[in-house]
Amino acid sequence: MAETPAEIVAPHPARIMVVDDDDAVRDVLCRVLKVQGFDVIEASSADMALETIDRDGMVPVVVSDIHMPGRDGISLLRAVLKRYPDTAFVMLTGDADVTTAVECLKIGALDYLTKPVIIEEVRARVTRVIETRRLRLEVRRFEENYREDLERRVAELSQKNKAMFLAQVQMAVRMLEAKDPYTRGHSQRVAEYAVATGRTLGIDREMLGEIRLGGELHDIGKIGTRDAVLHKPGPLTDEEFAEMRLHTIDGAEMLSVLSEDHPEVLSIVRSHHERMDGTGFPDGLKGEAIPLSARVVAVVDAFDAMTSTRSYRLKQSAEPALLELERCAGPHFDPVVVAAFRDAFPDHDRLLLSV
Ligand SMILES: [Fe+2]
Repeated sequence: MAETPAEIVAPHPARIMVVDDDDAVRDVLCRVLKVQGFDVIEASSADMALETIDRDGMVPVVVSDIHMPGRDGISLLRAVLKRYPDTAFVMLTGDADVTTAVECLKIGALDYLTKPVIIEEVRARVTRVIETRRLRLEVRRFEENYREDLERRVAELSQKNKAMFLAQVQMAVRMLEAKDPYTRGHSQRVAEYAVATGRTLGIDREMLGEIRLGGELHDIGKIGTRDAVLHKPGPLTDEEFAEMRLHTIDGAEMLSVLSEDHPEVLSIVRSHHERMDGTGFPDGLKGEAIPLSARVVAVVDAFDAMTSTRSYRLKQSAEPALLELERCAGPHFDPVVVAAFRDAFPDHDRLLLSV
């Protein structure tokens, strides 16, 4: 529950500390403030005042003489504000000492009283510093609440934007595949195969989520590849192959907005054509330098390509495709991943297989 302004200042009655080595001045001040309803604590030296504050905690208002034997009022002001920056400090000073009083204001005192003290002035100044302190605390609280609220709203908006962006790219992949009967459903099958293989490898739940998304989006960069290259019924020229290879880099670039929340997805998109012997693309990564999630997608991507009819060849059935993966395990695919994929689908009827 929010504090009321009075509670912000202090529990009732508000506590005030009067610090002065002059017993007469201290007595007058204490009496005046008690009559005004304050809980007054007194100290005859700065050291005594600090001891009390260290022992009992923050005092909202301190009225302190400047010139005292031992530690002076300026030193007390600095020490108290260092511990409790919200303390409202009123300095007591002799008539001729206004320069020092102004210095105290620069350090952080809220006001000063000149001696001899006038009772009405004490009341008025103390009331005013309490009000100043209350307003400062309220403003700070308002700013903090406002900032927290703003940060929360920005975070919510950013999450919503990212979720919308993700939904759009997922839709884009489906549209890309829907245009081509040979690749229809490819990304969904790759995602399912990759998750099942990852589970067999003992990959944790959170990472499996990344693998699913990465599997779905691994070829998003092909949106930028020309149809003539994408659907060419035959071997690609060097130039066309260079264009096709770019889909890894382009895809990661397209998804860069997700780099903070889904770095693994970006790794999959970029590295799913790397080979264990370092002859893959786009970075020529070798062995374990290729992220495991990308090694998983590489295997199941190749499997789905082999078991799908393409414009340039007929599809294979599951067992020959698995044997081909095993033949290429080592230089091309991670053998552990290939074995895990086979283990994940002991019953080939459970494979989704392109129709
Ligand atoms: Fe690809």
